[in-house]
Amino acid sequence: MPPLTAKPYLRSVQIDPHADIDPQRYPFTIPAVRDLGVLEPHPDVTFFVGENGAGKSTVLEAIAVALGLPAEGGTKNVYRPQQQEVSPLQHVLKVTKGWRWPRDSYFLRAESLFNVFTYLDELPGGGPSLHLRSHGEAFMDVMLRFRGDGFYLLDEPEAALSPNRQLAALTVIDGLVKQGAQFIIATHSPILLAYPRAKILSFDGTGIAEISYEDTEHYAVTRDFLNHYPRRLEQLLGEDD
Ligand SMILES: Nc1ncnc2c1ncn2[C@@H]1O[C@H](COP(=O)(O)OP(=O)(O)O)[C@@H](O)[C@H]1O
Ligand SMILES: [Mg+2]
Repeated sequence: MPPLTAKPYLRSVQIDPHADIDPQRYPFTIPAVRDLGVLEPHPDVTFFVGENGAGKSTVLEAIAVALGLPAEGGTKNVYRPQQQEVSPLQHVLKVTKGWRWPRDSYFLRAESLFNVFTYLDELPGGGPSLHLRSHGEAFMDVMLRFRGDGFYLLDEPEAALSPNRQLAALTVIDGLVKQGAQFIIATHSPILLAYPRAKILSFDGTGIAEISYEDTEHYAVTRDFLNHYPRRLEQLLGEDD
């Protein structure tokens, strides 16, 4: 087992202060990117939350590329595009690693699983084809290949997972964290966000700020809706049946 003190493997992420950036141009037009500051991941799990379009995937992709992972998702070996042009952010992002980098790393995006499965299916001894599994089953299969000695970026894993599998994912993530893994996860899932060995970074119009679980709108809106859904539906739909 790797020494736990090696974490965080990824210590900080920031835009190179000497970089010449154009604030009128994507992605520096996005407040969370322009005002990224010094992002310091939690040694175990860091969540990115925020509205659609807040810049979570943009930052996650740029971190992946800065670490040598494919922007489309996968391990270092999945794809070898000659030039991965994700956004100009990748050229100016400065990542600081800890003194030891883990053996396994993976960028898991629900939307590009198809290509990742094709790659994994071609590996020797891989078991039944992941294409024959449901999206959620295959997604869990990929997560179950993760190792304690690993660094993982996940973009909206809940897109593939039923509520029960999201609960199961908490157990899988916790087991890996306790064996030494570090995760950065962009999510809208109030279930995943409840994970306690974590820091939640909220992306909004003023930049990026750390917030507590119960202060996330994911927690507050979901809780309120489930507790009062007949009334909320009435308000939303203007009907009372
Ligand atoms: N290549 C691009 N050129 C210009 N704008 C883009 C590009 N890719 C994404 N965007 C815009 O940047 C914003 C942030 O996108 P994204 O990082 O995917 O947000 P999130 O993952 O938080 O929903 C969105 O408004 C999106 O439309
Ligand atoms: Mg996204």
